[in-house]
Amino acid sequence: MMKFLVINGPNLNMLGKREPQIYGIQDYGALLAYLDHRADELGVKLEVIQSNHEGVIIDEIQGALGRCDGIVINPAGYTHTSIAIMDALKAVEIPAVEVHLTDVSAREEFRHISYPGMACVKTFKGHGFSSYGEAMEYLKDYILRT
Ligand code: DQA
Repeated sequence: MMKFLVINGPNLNMLGKREPQIYGIQDYGALLAYLDHRADELGVKLEVIQSNHEGVIIDEIQGALGRCDGIVINPAGYTHTSIAIMDALKAVEIPAVEVHLTDVSAREEFRHISYPGMACVKTFKGHGFSSYGEAMEYLKDYILRT
């Protein structure tokens, strides 16, 4: 069975409380339940982590080498700053898909750039939790055809 590492960056543990008018009222536990459900539907295995620390995220990406077939990453605030996360994704050469709950391209100008996204094969954004489901489905097909 294919195994994906799902990485959630800073403040995503605050879902539900965090700016609900932007990120919705469903909490992080609801996101985990959604991911489990979609993994079952797609027949893939998931390892899901959340961290507020850039170095931990980089360690997790490096640790996926030889263990995971694909990476789904919502780098959250690090999307717009982290060349180091982009470099880590490039270093491991594991196919990665970027996700965002919101449509970052329709928000503030500083959210329009994504460094980790430059090391990803595709980005899904603006569809709430469904962005993750779309990313997992795309990644499964991508791995099967490459
Ligand atoms: C986010 C968008 C980012 O700009 C923001 O910093 C986040 C969440 C999203 O999922 O929409 O923390 O990645």
